[in-house]
This record gives sequence, C-alpha cells and structure tokens, in this order.
Amino acid sequence: MRVGQDAGGDDLARGERHCPGLAREERDENGGRAVDIEVSGAAPIVMGVPLRLERAISNLLDNAVSFSPPEGKVTAAIVGRDNWIELAICDEGPGIPPDFLPHLFERFSTRERGGLGLGLYIAKRIAMAHGGDLTVASQPGKGARFILSLLAEAK
Ligand SMILES: Nc1ncnc2c1ncn2[C@@H]1O[C@H](COP(=O)(O)OP(=O)(O)O)[C@@H](O)[C@H]1O
Ligand SMILES: [Mg+2]
Repeated sequence: MRVGQDAGGDDLARGERHCPGLAREERDENGGRAVDIEVSGAAPIVMGVPLRLERAISNLLDNAVSFSPPEGKVTAAIVGRDNWIELAICDEGPGIPPDFLPHLFERFSTRERGGLGLGLYIAKRIAMAHGGDLTVASQPGKGARFILSLLAEAK
C-alpha cells in the first residue's frame, strides 16, 4: 500500500510508505519476528496523512507481534474492494475475550498491567479521520484479525 497526500507531487513522493518497511521496523524492534505481507493485485494508493496512517498500522502490528506466541505467524494482507482497500492484520495469539471486545477501541482500555490502552483507540480515530474504519474479529484462542478499511485513490 502506498500513501499519498493530495498537496502536490513532492509531498506524494515524500509520503510514499511501504508496508514491508513497517514490517521490517516491527521485526527489528521485536527481536527478529517476521511479518508476512500479502498484496493481491496492484498496490493500491490511499490518500491520507502518511505519518498518521503509519502510526495506525504500526499500533496494529505492534499488538499482533506482542500478543503472538514465539512461533506465531503475523500476516498483513491488502485486498481491494471496489474503491476501498482492506488491510487485514492477523495473529495467532490468545485472541480477545468476547466481554472485552465492545471496549477494545475505548480510550484507556487495557487488560495488561503497564499498558496505556491507547493504541487501538488512536488507530480507530485515525482510520475514521480518513473516512475509513477499523474493526476486529476474534475468537478466544484463535488469534485476532484487525481490518483497517480506507478509501483507495480512483484509478
Ligand atoms: N492482537 C491482539 N491480541 C490480543 N489482545 C489484544 C490484541 N491487540 C490488543 N489487544 C488487547 O487490547 C488491549 C488494548 O490494546 P492497545 O489499545 O494497543 O493498548 P496499548 O496502548 O496499551 O498498547 C490490550 O491490552 C490487549 O488486552
Ligand atoms: Mg498496543
């Protein structure tokens, strides 16, 4: 996925971000964990504020990696749907208990000591500020699947 700003060519070029780059950062920060990236079709272009979108994706990858068991697989897959793209970030961690799901995107909502419970709140706010959304599907014991939906640039 590439992220562009609509404020001219230079910004667009400067604003290019690639998911594999983000995944590399996560890997470096998390002791050698790799993230599989799947892009089906041409890499879509999303209009938005690159640093903000990068923050949202990074918060999701960070959670996916930190809640993964040592050999757990983390995947990021981008699928285009009409003029939307869906970035799905999946892990094989413990998943999210059903009673916590309704509170997951609330501010200061955390189940871990030491966590602030802001990462998902911020990611959802960023998605919505771009006219998109962030949703989750999870069954306890079967990992979590976060879907970031964003409007793709018309071709
Ligand atoms: N991928 C995940 N698997 C399991 N639980 C998760 C995952 N992502 C988030 N959570 C749960 O949601 C809570 C809030 O996450 P987050 O908003 O990122 O908090 P923080 O800002 O402390 O990182 C976490 O404390 C954890 O209980
Ligand atoms: Mg977090």
